[in-house]
Amino acid sequence: MTIATITIHQPRRLIVGAGTIGEVGSWAGDAARTLVVATPFTAGFVDRLRLPGSVTVFDAIPGEPDIAIFDAAIEAARRTNPDLVVGVGGGSVLDVAKLVAALWNSDQTLSDVAGPNRVADRSTRLAQVATTAGTGSEAGIRSLITDPGKGNKIAVESPHLIADLAVLDPELTFSLPPAVTAATGIDAMAHCVEAFTNRRAHPMIDDFARMGFRLVGRYLARAVRDGSDTEAREGLMLASYYGGVCLGPVNTAAGHAIAYPLGTLLHLPHGLANAIVFPHVLAFNQPAVPAKTAEVAEALGFGQELSQRDLLGAAHAFCAGLGVEMSLSAHGATEPDLRRYAEDAHAIRRLMDNNPRDMSVDDVLGIYKAAF
Ligand SMILES: [Fe+2]
Repeated sequence: MTIATITIHQPRRLIVGAGTIGEVGSWAGDAARTLVVATPFTAGFVDRLRLPGSVTVFDAIPGEPDIAIFDAAIEAARRTNPDLVVGVGGGSVLDVAKLVAALWNSDQTLSDVAGPNRVADRSTRLAQVATTAGTGSEAGIRSLITDPGKGNKIAVESPHLIADLAVLDPELTFSLPPAVTAATGIDAMAHCVEAFTNRRAHPMIDDFARMGFRLVGRYLARAVRDGSDTEAREGLMLASYYGGVCLGPVNTAAGHAIAYPLGTLLHLPHGLANAIVFPHVLAFNQPAVPAKTAEVAEALGFGQELSQRDLLGAAHAFCAGLGVEMSLSAHGATEPDLRRYAEDAHAIRRLMDNNPRDMSVDDVLGIYKAAF
C-alpha cells in the first residue's frame, strides 16, 4: 500500500503552561493597535494578556458565529486598523479571529474565500489564546462560519489562517463548568478518533490522534471532577491541540457530519452535539476499522474485544458518566425533526466521504433515533 503524502501547518510559536497568557504581551512587542476578538465572558481575560499599545475588544462572538457576526467583527477591525489580532476564546472566537486577521484589510469577502486555498494573503499578525479544550482551532488553518440562510457551515481553509502564536494556558479553563468540560473534551477526542479511523488516515496523524485520545482517557474524568486540576486541564488542552492538528490534513468524518445539524437546527453547542453522536458512530464504524477501534476503546478504559453492542454501551456510559445528557429528546428534538437532520447530515459529503464505513440516509436516521 502506498501512503498518501501529507502537509501539516502548525502555529509558528506554541506556548503551553499555567500562567502563559501573560507572555502574549512581550511576544507582541511594539504592536501599536490590537483588536481582541472575544466573548462577553472571555473579555475578562484581556488584562492578563499584558498587551502594549491601544487595545480594542470585540466581544460579541456567540456560540455559533454566523455571517452577520463575522461582518460586525470585520467592521470593528476596520475601525481599529490593527497591527495585531488576538483571539481569546473557544473555537467560535478563534475561527472568527483568524478570518478577521486575514480579511479585514483585503478586497476578498467571505464568499470569495469559502473552500480550500482561496485566501490571497494575510498581513496582520495573529495570536490565538484558547480558553476551552475542545476545538483545537488554535492549531489549524480552518474556520467555520454558519450561513443561517442555508442552515449549514461555510468552511474556509488556508495556510494564511495559521496563528503566529498559539497559547495553551490551562488556568483559562478552570472556570468551565463540568458539563462543558465533558462535552468539549469528548469533542477533542472525536477529532482524534475520526481522523484516526478515517479513510484518509495517515500514520503521522495517527500518532497525534493517539496522543490526543489517550490524554482524554487519562484526564477528562479528573478535570470534570476538579476543574482546577492543572495537570488534567493542561492534558486536555494538549488533546484539543492534537485534535486540531488532526483536523488539518485528515479532518473528521461521519460523527461531525451527524453533529452539525444538531448545532445549526437544534442549536446545541458543538461539543455537546458531538458527545451525543460519538458512541453511535464509534460502534457503527467498528466493523470497518476493528483494530483502530479497539485501540480507542482500550485508551478510554472500555475493555478489550468488545462486541458492537458492548462498545456502544461502554462509550455511552463513558459520556453519560461524565455528566453529559445523551438524549436528543431531552434537548428539545422532536421525532419528526430527525429525518431533516439525517438528510442534512448525509449531504455533508466533505465529511461523510471520509467515513470508513458508508452510511445511507437511513443509517444516519437510525443513529438519531438511537440517540433520541
Ligand atoms: Fe468538533
